[in-house]
Amino acid sequence: MHFQETRIICFAILLVIVMAQKRNEPQCARNEELKECGSACEPTCKDPVPFCRFPCINNVCQCVLGFVRHPTTGNCVRQNQCPDAKNCGVNETFSECGTACEPSCSNPEPRMCTRQCIVDVCQCSPGFVRGTKGCVRKDHC
Ligand SMILES: *[C@@H]1O[C@H](CO)[C@@H](O)[C@H](O)[C@H]1NC(C)=O
Repeated sequence: MHFQETRIICFAILLVIVMAQKRNEPQCARNEELKECGSACEPTCKDPVPFCRFPCINNVCQCVLGFVRHPTTGNCVRQNQCPDAKNCGVNETFSECGTACEPSCSNPEPRMCTRQCIVDVCQCSPGFVRGTKGCVRKDHC
């Protein structure tokens, strides 16, 4: 009998500890999520698909997939809400310095690529790849 009670009390204490830890986690703003290994080069309006050489940052609030950091408000917004968004297609993002190797259905994660910019170009938004009929999610190829 005693053993049972002790077990229940232990479980209750554990539950309280777990709940207390949850409350201590930093609260992220809208369209952000807590990332255990966030990018040191978060996607922004200016550079929605950054090339990053730095190791990740631990436990940081960053924009969820499909959102980028707005330069003036600091909020995470869809790319078409960026100040310099041109008339790019659905699932596309304007970039002043686009990649020479846009991800596509046939090559969703290009590895070797020149660092050269494709200037002022509409390219697939983060999480999307170039398909035959515009930019789609990889699993929609
Ligand atoms: C945008 O992406 C969605 C999700 O993959 C896809 O269903 C839709 O066809 C895309 N739209 C265009 C215009 O590419």
